[in-house]
Amino acid sequence: MKVVHTVKETRDQVREWRKQGLTVGLVPTMGFLHEGHQSLIAKAVEENDKVVVSVFVNPIQFAPNEDLEAYPRDLEADTRLCEATGADLIFNPEPEEMYAPDFSTHVDMEQVSEQLCGKSRPIHFRGVCTVVSKLFNIVCPDKAYFGQKDAQQLAVIKRMVRDLNFGIEIVGCPIIREEDGLAKSSRNTYLSEEERKAALILSKTIKLGQEMVEAGERDSKKVVDAMIKNIETEPMAKIDYVQAVDAVTCQEIDTLKGEVLVAMAVYIGKTRLIDNFIATVD
Ligand code: PAJ
Repeated sequence: MKVVHTVKETRDQVREWRKQGLTVGLVPTMGFLHEGHQSLIAKAVEENDKVVVSVFVNPIQFAPNEDLEAYPRDLEADTRLCEATGADLIFNPEPEEMYAPDFSTHVDMEQVSEQLCGKSRPIHFRGVCTVVSKLFNIVCPDKAYFGQKDAQQLAVIKRMVRDLNFGIEIVGCPIIREEDGLAKSSRNTYLSEEERKAALILSKTIKLGQEMVEAGERDSKKVVDAMIKNIETEPMAKIDYVQAVDAVTCQEIDTLKGEVLVAMAVYIGKTRLIDNFIATVD
């Protein structure tokens, strides 16, 4: 497996594979890889001849008050994980390789990016759409893999690919959790021992919401209110949002119908964690 740092090396490698008639899968990441990322890479290895993993902490999707500097990095460990999982290339550019000093073109999205995380992180999805577009143009994969953990991001990418005719198949992959239920995340490393215990309130609340929907509750306010009440039992938790939306448009809904996404962002101390469930309701 190779690790490259430039757009040119990535393009040259992919071009060589294409000459041989091979298919290419892409897994975009910000590194500090865990079993969640690994499940995406494994799926890509299963479905493509060659797999590129991008490892890039994308500065333009972080607001000035967010954790860009603190974001954990460990390229050596990432390389071992990618190699063990069967990836073929890591693209690990420096920010200067991706963004010229006078970089001035962005991909902006309406609707899908407005609710949920888009409310508290107003520039986030513009940064994500821009970097993912760049990665798509650099690698030109047949398929690209994204986790349901970031359900709104997955919906946003699907909409962008449709709207801008990228011609890339987007594959969504299920949330991978720790044994006790906490969704795996690079940001879990920020949690102290006490906070790690308190963080269980997210997955427990997801389970509560899911059980209500399974039991037949169709009033989204009732489900969301019960979830909020449950989170409030944890003194270390501060709610950013709990919302029930249409899973495709990410617009708020009063009645749970069709494919629905119930998502939350909760601060545990200073760490902002997200979790969600998707239900198909008739
Ligand atoms: P990052 O947070 O590193 O996540 C990379 C991919 O791994 C995303 O598609 C995310 O949904 C998936 N992932 C993370 N934790 C997961 C889990 N527990 N189970 C399943 N999948 C999981 O998301 C980003 O990076 C960035 O925004 C990026 C798309 C790379 C653009 O910069």
